[in-house]
Amino acid sequence: RHEKIWLTLSSLMIIGFLVLAGYQAFALELGPPSHKETIDPQKVDETAPFNEPGVYQTGENEYEVVMIGQVFSFNAGGDELVFPAGSTVTFTMTSKDVVHGFQIAGTNVNTMVMPGYVQKVTQTFDSPGEYLILCNEYCGSGHQLMASTITIE
Ligand code: CUA
Repeated sequence: RHEKIWLTLSSLMIIGFLVLAGYQAFALELGPPSHKETIDPQKVDETAPFNEPGVYQTGENEYEVVMIGQVFSFNAGGDELVFPAGSTVTFTMTSKDVVHGFQIAGTNVNTMVMPGYVQKVTQTFDSPGEYLILCNEYCGSGHQLMASTITIE
């Protein structure tokens, strides 16, 4: 009788772990973006919105950053990533070449930027300061140089 209880408990734990793994993969967008909008990686420069990378104000305290990941930089059209405190920023990204990572230090943002897919992540920045953007996927010899900065004032 006790065996049955343990069997049920361990089954429930396994299901729990599976649900947790699924949640991490999908809700936190760590997994491959199979459900996302696709883009021809050869035609990034000609495909909207990536034909005009940069920072766009989309509302009061709302911004969109159209950014292209490419060895070994985050290309936002040369625009500075400077926003007032309390801003909600959506990063719309794709890669022109290989898989890059997009992590914003000090936040929960940590995702992949893959060629062929459009990746969107949104983050609200309440506290002023400098936030480091890092590529966290090994993408070649200049990987460790692939970084950028967000300034919240
Ligand atoms: Cu891009 Cu590592």
